[in-house]
Amino acid sequence: MKIAISGKGGSGKTTISATLTRLIARRGLSVLAIDGDPNPNLIQALGLGPGVEAEAVPRSVVERREDEAGKTRHVLTSSVSEIVGRYGLKAPDGVTVLVGTKVDHAGAG
Ligand SMILES: Nc1ncnc2c1ncn2[C@@H]1O[C@H](COP(=O)(O)OP(=O)(O)OP(=O)(O)O)[C@@H](O)[C@H]1O
Ligand SMILES: [Mg+2]
Repeated sequence: MKIAISGKGGSGKTTISATLTRLIARRGLSVLAIDGDPNPNLIQALGLGPGVEAEAVPRSVVERREDEAGKTRHVLTSSVSEIVGRYGLKAPDGVTVLVGTKVDHAGAG
């Protein structure tokens, strides 16, 4: 099951995401939470301390490739399990969290 949470700024997306993922994990399901916000704070909402820093998944895990028909596709350069193993953090209730994006510097967003 995949759940995407989006909506207007400050409407509670991060709070709902953290609560929902922890509740689902408490039921014994394996949960991978991905923070797609360029100003990420899901790891704090999940209960990880303010000193915990997540290394964001770099853009290089996705590559644009053109197929024989000239159609552009985005493909992963590593497997999902490799990405989770390298960049995933363990949060309370057994939730694994990935920080999917981060603005590196001005003009890079
Ligand atoms: N059900 C709620 N009742 C009252 N306050 C809430 C509720 N849900 C979230 N909040 C508060 O509202 C504020 C915004 O919540 P949150 O950060 O989850 O929103 P967001 O949609 O992720 O925001 P952003 O667009 O900035 O990422 C926070 O201070 C949060 O504690
Ligand atoms: Mg948010």
